[in-house]
Amino acid sequence: MQKSFDISSSAGRYGVEVGTGLLSRTLAANPDAIIICDRNLSGYLPATAAEPIYIDAVESNKSLEAAPSVIVALRQRNANRNTHLIVIGGGIIQDISTLAASIYMRGISWTYLPSTLLGMVDSCIGGKSSINVGGYKNLVGNFFPPKEILIDTAFIRTLDAEMVVGGLYEAAKICYARSFEDFRDYLDTKPSYPLDPDGAEAVILKSLTTKKWFIEVDEFDNKERLLLNFGHTFGHAMEAATNFGVSHGIAVGVGMLIAINYATRRGELGAVGIERTAALAGHVKSKLGDGKFSVVVSPPTIPIDGVLEKFTHDKKHRTDAYRVVIPRGDGALELVPQQRSDEVHADIRSAYEETIADIGWQFE
Ligand SMILES: NC(=O)c1ccc[n+]([C@@H]2O[C@H](COP(=O)([O-])OP(=O)(O)OC[C@H]3O[C@@H](n4cnc5c(N)ncnc54)[C@H](O)[C@@H]3O)[C@@H](O)[C@H]2O)c1
Ligand SMILES: [Zn+2]
Repeated sequence: MQKSFDISSSAGRYGVEVGTGLLSRTLAANPDAIIICDRNLSGYLPATAAEPIYIDAVESNKSLEAAPSVIVALRQRNANRNTHLIVIGGGIIQDISTLAASIYMRGISWTYLPSTLLGMVDSCIGGKSSINVGGYKNLVGNFFPPKEILIDTAFIRTLDAEMVVGGLYEAAKICYARSFEDFRDYLDTKPSYPLDPDGAEAVILKSLTTKKWFIEVDEFDNKERLLLNFGHTFGHAMEAATNFGVSHGIAVGVGMLIAINYATRRGELGAVGIERTAALAGHVKSKLGDGKFSVVVSPPTIPIDGVLEKFTHDKKHRTDAYRVVIPRGDGALELVPQQRSDEVHADIRSAYEETIADIGWQFE
């Protein structure tokens, strides 16, 4: 299996490699690099590594408000335009580092080592930063891809079941969004928890080579790439209304179930579509631990009114219509505006309530 490939972007080509031992290899090859690292991952760094800039992986740190402290830390380490950064962490560290690397002295080169499965299968490619401002999540951002992305699967060994399953949901979403064939290929990689390094390589490569198509054909989110928001609009409202008590990847998985439920009640699916979305829903539910909380150890009670409030105010919607990605016809995804009507509101509410009850979570 090919373990490395390139991505072409407006910022040039950048490489992706999947394997083990990549962290120690890149640290040895770049002794003068400045390291930015998730504080929780200090145990992964060899004692000989230079003192990194540690960042706590909390949402408040991927914000415009927190960005100056990273910039100042770079200056205090005498970073200049020729400095190379090595960034180690999940999506939070990636987001703030993308921003910092892009604006420090108008841009310095960086290598990214994603440490979460979500980072490995999804966010590490595409070059985006998503930054919180004034309490609004992912409100601003830019594109500044790393020079190279090294996916060291050794990081997986300290991820818990919820983090692994959350990553698998993003991978399932990417593959399903491309085609049902790609989703089947994803299932053939035997995505499961626990995930051994060989299994991880197969699912990561499948997910990333599939996402590569989306970001090369639509780098700036104008058409095809928008399909990758599947599960996100419904899921994000649950993350926000529970103050991130539902983690991102799990919210995306449950969000896909809600989108499927909604599309079904709107009569959008034909017989093949019902079968295909059932395959996706079956996969998602099987990984939730049969609705018996084995993955999400203590699911929060979902405040439906609060969730609907967040849903209706999502920044992706238009004033007259909700912009949601749903399966239609044979199950292929489409971005389908939904007029803001009482009927649509009632179906959205029912889709949330029925899905949450179905997976054994509580709502109020
Ligand atoms: N820019 C993008 O394209 C993009 C895409 C998707 C998500 N995101 C963002 O990414 C964030 C979520 O990122 P995430 O889920 O990758 O994780 P994270 O960065 O939020 O980290 C979650 C927790 O896992 C810990 N952690 C990280 N690696 C670990 C490891 N190997 N072992 C044990 N613990 C580890 C962290 O310290 C933290 O406590 C969200 O803010 C989301 O908005 C960005
Ligand atoms: Zn996501």
